[in-house]
Amino acid sequence: MDLHLKGKKALITGGSRGIGLYTGKLLAAEGCDVAFCARNQEDIDHATQTISDAGTGQVLGIRTNLADETETREFARQAIAEMGGLDLLIHNASGFDMAGDEAGWMRSFQVDMMAGVRLVEESLASLKASDSASITFVGSMASKYHFGRPPTSYGPAKAAMRVYANELAQSYGRDGIRANVISPGAVWFEGGSWDQRKQENPKFYAAVEKSIPLGRLGTAEEIANAIAFIASPAGLWINSTHIVADGGQVAAVD
Ligand SMILES: NC(=O)c1ccc[n+]([C@@H]2O[C@H](COP(=O)([O-])OP(=O)(O)OC[C@H]3O[C@@H](n4cnc5c(N)ncnc54)[C@H](OP(=O)(O)O)[C@@H]3O)[C@@H](O)[C@H]2O)c1
Repeated sequence: MDLHLKGKKALITGGSRGIGLYTGKLLAAEGCDVAFCARNQEDIDHATQTISDAGTGQVLGIRTNLADETETREFARQAIAEMGGLDLLIHNASGFDMAGDEAGWMRSFQVDMMAGVRLVEESLASLKASDSASITFVGSMASKYHFGRPPTSYGPAKAAMRVYANELAQSYGRDGIRANVISPGAVWFEGGSWDQRKQENPKFYAAVEKSIPLGRLGTAEEIANAIAFIASPAGLWINSTHIVADGGQVAAVD
């Protein structure tokens, strides 16, 4: 299947590791120019090389802390200016609040929510000029399911993202801009949070594996495949939607 991504320009937050890195590699391989951000320069340099090796387009890794408004807006402006436009906006990074304290709530608000809002504001003119514009937020099943942990801001921030995506889809559909959220379930990749849990608590990890109908965790590559399809022109009729990619982990019908 041709995703019709050749020559498209993609911006990804959190592209130096995990789901963001796999998405960057896949989009580059499909012919996109890719701009991404992260905070750690060493990881950015490594990811820039990895994504560049996957395709032939332009790859820009820009050091940015998405908790900071000025840096976030500057990232979008620089990426759009250097790529000469934007077709795919993918907000993937998260504040990953697992503590539920004041700092965690503020980080979720800034990184998961406000960085998305700021990136959309900076991107709108370019997206309106695109003939295949899409906004894709990477959410979480924590936006619809209680996993038995004490309350934190992680799920609520991801849930807010779903409402915001619907607002965007309804407001800018006539400008040709789609907006969706894709929520992964538990995803394993080397060095990721589930890899860490596997090392620290193999019993818990095995129980999670067993609870998933497909008998294992998802991979970053599988999530990247879903993101690329939804964000691409091939996913044109998917709009204003929450897409689950959890291998059936959450036993619910919607
Ligand atoms: N992995 C899972 O099982 C899973 C499950 C459900 C949902 N998700 C969602 O999928 C997305 C990606 O998860 P992941 O597991 O791939 O994450 P990850 O491996 O921790 O990677 C996160 C990426 O975001 C960057 N980042 C984090 N905070 C940032 C900030 N303040 N400013 C700029 N960049 C920042 C990181 O680089 P730096 O640290 O260098 O900044 C890194 O590139 C998240 O939205 C997460 O909620 C993941």
